Amino acid sequence: MAENTLTITDNRTQKSYTIPVDNGTIRAMDLRQIKTDPEDFGLMTYDPAFMNTASCKSSITFIDGDRGILRYRGYPIEVLAEKCTFLEVAYLLLYGALPTEKELKDWVHNITHHTMLHETTKKFMEGFRYDAHPMAMFVSSVAALSSVYPEARHVHDADNRLHQIVRLIGKVPSIAAMSYRHNVGFPYVYPDNDLSYTENFMNMLWKMVEPKYVAHPAISRALDVLFILHADHEQNCGTNAMRAVGSAQTDPYLATASAAAALAGPLHGGANEEVLKMLDEIGSKNNVPAYIKRVKSGELKLMGFGHRVYKNYDPRAKIIKWASEQVFQVTGRNSKLEIALELERIALDDEYFIKRRLYPNVDFYSGIIYQAMGFRPEMFTVLFAIPRTAGWLAQWQEMITDPEQKIARPRQIYTGCQERKFVPMEKRTSTVLAAG
Ligand SMILES: CC(C)(COP(=O)(O)OP(=O)(O)OC[C@H]1O[C@@H](n2cnc3c(N)ncnc32)[C@H](O)[C@@H]1OP(=O)(O)O)[C@@H](O)C(=O)NCCC(=O)NCCS
Repeated sequence: MAENTLTITDNRTQKSYTIPVDNGTIRAMDLRQIKTDPEDFGLMTYDPAFMNTASCKSSITFIDGDRGILRYRGYPIEVLAEKCTFLEVAYLLLYGALPTEKELKDWVHNITHHTMLHETTKKFMEGFRYDAHPMAMFVSSVAALSSVYPEARHVHDADNRLHQIVRLIGKVPSIAAMSYRHNVGFPYVYPDNDLSYTENFMNMLWKMVEPKYVAHPAISRALDVLFILHADHEQNCGTNAMRAVGSAQTDPYLATASAAAALAGPLHGGANEEVLKMLDEIGSKNNVPAYIKRVKSGELKLMGFGHRVYKNYDPRAKIIKWASEQVFQVTGRNSKLEIALELERIALDDEYFIKRRLYPNVDFYSGIIYQAMGFRPEMFTVLFAIPRTAGWLAQWQEMITDPEQKIARPRQIYTGCQERKFVPMEKRTSTVLAAG
């Protein structure tokens, strides 16, 4: 019997099947041959939250959640955060290799010259209510770009794809900044091509009457590092949305909007905003033990803690702690840091968290830094979406060019009624519908 195989005995029929094991994985479709009789559909797997199902082969990001390792294209996140700029990392994610000096120069020039938005997008943004959530504006405006660039639907044309990728990476900071200015009622600021990616973003956010907003170099570098940390994270909820929607050959603007919509959820990218709300609710270091008690009783979740993949310290959280020190040297300490540190200290020492292997994740400290930098909590998830756009697009491109990929279409286990006889209106009795 071949070594890399799995033998399954079906106790319903006493038949045995041998199926290949490749990369520690069996193919779900190999189970379909396991039937009780020729009419039987064949064996399926049931995995409602993809707890143990690989949906693709990918060479972009590697995570070892037990050992707290994160690498983009083989490079440890710690090294990239120390030595690269965000746009260099975006290039790495998309092209699979770090750029040469010339490649980086061209790439930066290209992205920089695609930061401008069409005036219709500005008008579209003006239509939102003054207090619309920036993520709602971000998702809708990214989707609206599909109406500006209809040629983006030619997803099998490599040059066309690259053009849309450059546009998206260039334009997401402009959309993000507009959503902020819209909330605060200030005029939108146009991009400035003399500035770096993060400096330009900060200029579009905070420029008032001065000719140019000059960001403190430590702050713009810290934001760049945060962008690097958030650039990709393999098959998370948002990326899965990007791939699933993109698998229908939907254009990248609409697919990116879907991914951003997934990111907006409080269990995903929305968690950083929730962490700040939680720290506000706790109010002071002394209230931490009582709050932990409520978490342990199941009343609340400790936001910014726990991860589907990391069962060890999230390596990004470590770098964020370092970046926060750089920011606080400029801005002064955020008073919420004390509460966060106390929460972490107590939680890491508590049986409940130890047993469940719950550690701080990337969102636990990011909100504290963002707030110290001057961002409002509503903007935090948008700050996550800007760099993640590069990751989504790298994953989308990989999916589109993968000959094994088809339209994503899961199976279900049907639990509803079998065929029923139609009931005419006069014979129907009222039923209170179960939720859902
Ligand atoms: C990230 C998250 C959604 C992962 O969920 P998951 O992989 O499905 O993990 P589970 O919900 O199965 O959690 C396993 C156990 O830990 C507990 N748990 C998980 N995260 C927890 C948290 N943040 N606070 C308290 N308990 C938590 C669950 O209640 C469960 O306990 P049980 O076994 O007694 O039922 C989850 O940890 C969470 O909601 N965290 C808070 C939100 C957050 O920070 N999200 C950002 C992720 S980067």
